[in-house]
Amino acid sequence: KAISQEIEQQTVASKEQLEQFRLRYISRKGVVTELFEGLKTVPSVERRAVGQALNGLKNLAQERFDSFSQSIEAQQDAVGSAPPTDLTLPTVPNLSGTQHPLSLVRQRIIQIFERIGFDVADGPEIESDWYNFGALNFPDNHPARDMQDTFFVEKATAGSEGSGDMLLRTHTSNVQIRLMERQRAATASGETTFRPIRSIMPGRVYRNETISARAHCMFHQVEGIYIDRNVGFKDLKDTLYHFVKEMFEPGTQIRFRPSYFPFTEPSAEIDISCQICGGKGCNICKHSGWVEIAGSGMIDPQVIANCGIDPEEYTGFAFGMGIERITQLKFVVNDLRLYTENDVRFLRQFEGV
Ligand code: PHE
Repeated sequence: KAISQEIEQQTVASKEQLEQFRLRYISRKGVVTELFEGLKTVPSVERRAVGQALNGLKNLAQERFDSFSQSIEAQQDAVGSAPPTDLTLPTVPNLSGTQHPLSLVRQRIIQIFERIGFDVADGPEIESDWYNFGALNFPDNHPARDMQDTFFVEKATAGSEGSGDMLLRTHTSNVQIRLMERQRAATASGETTFRPIRSIMPGRVYRNETISARAHCMFHQVEGIYIDRNVGFKDLKDTLYHFVKEMFEPGTQIRFRPSYFPFTEPSAEIDISCQICGGKGCNICKHSGWVEIAGSGMIDPQVIANCGIDPEEYTGFAFGMGIERITQLKFVVNDLRLYTENDVRFLRQFEGV
């Protein structure tokens, strides 16, 4: 009786415990067998009843064993044949991506100009000759076009005199023209107040250059324009001084150097003291202490007129800079090709910047 109670109370949770159960109640050396051995000493009148009880005990033990082993097997199946999980192993690092240095700098440029009232505009990368050159005062066959080695996509149909050629834009100045035209359209549709145009235009541009440490056939520019009544050269200077102060190290020098662009008059290139050597002279600044960061100027009245805005009433300035160059100066990147090679050893350096 005691043994049968004991069996009823047993639980089995593992293979090892199942084996323990088998050894104690089922095997030839177990307690049940032992009790059967004792049957000989039982007086013959009781032997029959005791034998029956023992048989019941034996069956009970076998039944329980069968059901235990079934449930253990089911458990094993659920776990499958996979090795047990080792919870002490270190985790596999979940590497997150980093912002590309050009994106970081583009965002910073946008942030600086947005804070002083510029909005962000964009335009097509595949552009007609008119928007990339014609409207910007680059006459057909003018040598200034050679400054920008152009990828042509499609020749104009005969009779449209070149301005219908399709090309990959060589600068983001095409967006200038599109913004001014939008203004003209607003006026044409009856709008009487002139809304000042104050926008920057970040984007990709293309030039047919041999790829080297210093040049690439695809790069990024941010151009900006501001057109309103009474916009003067001092506004251009103020705006770019502010930009340089926000973007670069304190104490950075800035200078305006007279230059030429077909669509601005007067024009100036903007140099800053070299960020790498602090103006003492190094390879990046070709030992001059200065590096050029942007072109700029007052928008030529002819360009404003080309877009249908009255240049007697409205004036404006424009500037354009290369994001690659700014990034190079900020992060000392001495080979332009690094930007597009996607080498994680390069990209990881900008983690958390
Ligand atoms: N578009 C000129 C270039 O790519 C830069 C520029 C923009 C110059 C605006 C003056 C004004 O070279």
